[in-house]
Amino acid sequence: MLTNAAIKELVGTQAAELVQSGMTIGIGTGTTMEWMIRALGKKVNSGLEIRAVSTSQASNELAAQFNIPLIELNDAAKIQLAIDGADEIDPQLQLIKGGGGALFQEKMVAAAAEEFVVIADDTKLVDQLGAYPLPVEVMIFNWKQVDKQLAKLIGKPQQLRLKKDGSPFMTDHGNYIIDISFGVIENPDALNQALHDIPGVIETGLFLGMAGKALIGYPDGQTEWI
Ligand code: 5RP
Repeated sequence: MLTNAAIKELVGTQAAELVQSGMTIGIGTGTTMEWMIRALGKKVNSGLEIRAVSTSQASNELAAQFNIPLIELNDAAKIQLAIDGADEIDPQLQLIKGGGGALFQEKMVAAAAEEFVVIADDTKLVDQLGAYPLPVEVMIFNWKQVDKQLAKLIGKPQQLRLKKDGSPFMTDHGNYIIDISFGVIENPDALNQALHDIPGVIETGLFLGMAGKALIGYPDGQTEWI
């Protein structure tokens, strides 16, 4: 039986095979994507010619270690393919993302891509989204106001994301993240809209109608496309 890390390596490595010379691709963030970036780096160092738009400082740094040419999203005429991990995946390929705090840039890159592919181990599959706390990126300027609005709207436990030293976690874009524990999200579209209606909410970790397919890895070493 494979460990969770080995399953991530399996799907990450397999996903790198989707990338063809000449493509501009979006590269996501997280431990599964680290394996994909490593595998892609090997292909680049063997002659694969691509350009990549990264979704976080962490992925920028890893891609740079492997000489993967990086460009800004604004300079990409086209992104043929974006690949990223997820925290939860439901049967309609609706996602919760943002466990690593990169949801804003991840959503912008996925939205700009012609195809958005998710890679994950099978523990990420759920019948209904919501067991994983939903990350919501908020402005620092009025985050306490946003927090109050969220409490009124949702009435569920919510938590400002903190670092290990107890100070607030800050995103690559200089914002805070509030994680909301729903248990079950009955209507992801309505929730996403309601969250976006709160002034100061920048982006949510709900990725709805974006993923075209997902590559799932299992402990027995099998993978499947869903
Ligand atoms: C980062 C993300 C990640 O894709 C998500 O948290 C999955 O991470 P991992 O591959 O480490 O399980 O959304 O913001």
